[in-house]
Amino acid sequence: MAIREVLKMGDPRLLEVSRPVAPIDAETLAPLLEDMWDTMAAENGAGLAAPQIGVTQRVVIFGYQTNPRYPDAPPVPETVLINPEIEALGDAREDGWEGCLSVPGMRGVVSRYRDIRYRGFDQHGKPIEREASGFHARVVQHECDHLDGILYPFRIADLRRFGYLDTLIGQGVIELQPCDDEA
Ligand code: NI
Repeated sequence: MAIREVLKMGDPRLLEVSRPVAPIDAETLAPLLEDMWDTMAAENGAGLAAPQIGVTQRVVIFGYQTNPRYPDAPPVPETVLINPEIEALGDAREDGWEGCLSVPGMRGVVSRYRDIRYRGFDQHGKPIEREASGFHARVVQHECDHLDGILYPFRIADLRRFGYLDTLIGQGVIELQPCDDEA
């Protein structure tokens, strides 16, 4: 289909709460999902949420077998997740560097639940329920935040750990490109 423009932070559309998809119909969703996969692939993203291309529906995609931007990240199954819900499994949290295609060229440290269960539906309306930890859990939490109008910089507790990727790498603050939908 098409590589779509990714909205950038500052665009009020990224702050909207997206609406649930009902009914879930694969044929109706196909053009949106094709555009999302094409756009995510073009940017080497780990995930993408529909509102990032201006569609305020509760649809996210994520996953890859290998990603040149995250050579050390474990694979995450390629997933379409519609009307998602996330439940924390325990109180454990982890700090990690995140980026976002809507906040290009920057990275910041965000605290996320380490272990989660997520539920939702695929494009055929088939239920999905999985437990995830670490990077996988981080990507899902990041993408689902987009559906509530939340961008990762809103969650940075210490803005001293927020900056330009080139500088962070150049100064040895971070070694490689960590979690990004960029996540
Ligand atoms: Ni993002």
